[in-house]
Amino acid sequence: MTIRRMLEADLPAVAAIQAATTHAAQWPPASYLTRESWVAELNGVVIGFLVLLPLPPGEAEVLNIAVSPDFQRRGVGRALLNRASPRTLHLEVRESNAAARAFYQSLGFQETGRRRAYYQHPSEDAILLSR
Ligand SMILES: CC(C)(COP(=O)(O)OP(=O)(O)OC[C@H]1O[C@@H](n2cnc3c(N)ncnc32)[C@H](O)[C@@H]1OP(=O)(O)O)[C@@H](O)C(=O)NCCC(=O)NCCS
Repeated sequence: MTIRRMLEADLPAVAAIQAATTHAAQWPPASYLTRESWVAELNGVVIGFLVLLPLPPGEAEVLNIAVSPDFQRRGVGRALLNRASPRTLHLEVRESNAAARAFYQSLGFQETGRRRAYYQHPSEDAILLSR
């Protein structure tokens, strides 16, 4: 598996992964090219992506991360996030997104707060995490 920067040619695959992972943030994939964006590629196929907003100095916000359902629980998300280190990472996650919260906890993220009714459709609190 290779972790590399996202290219315009990756956008159809990124859009397909995003559509297949309803818990991922649903932003226009083309907007990711204006951020610091990475993809995980296996045998020439994009199987996951990570979008960061760099926050100098030495910090970044995780704007989105998703792994193709067929390739989850194989260390792809971990590899993507580790590529973003050693910066301090911040992110928000839906309170009900148990899989993502377990994922972040396993990677050493700690809760730093909560934003009430941060998400819509449905309305839900965001849990703030940092590592
Ligand atoms: C969250 C997500 C990116 C994790 O990616 P992944 O490649 O499946 O995660 P990894 O295989 O790297 O998991 C690393 C560790 O995290 C934990 N973990 C990951 N998914 C988990 C799950 N569904 N349930 C419990 N623990 C989980 C485990 O400890 C896992 O290690 P293990 O498999 O050796 O037990 C993926 O589930 C996903 O795309 N979810 C939908 C989109 C989403 O919710 N994005 C986050 C929005 S904030």
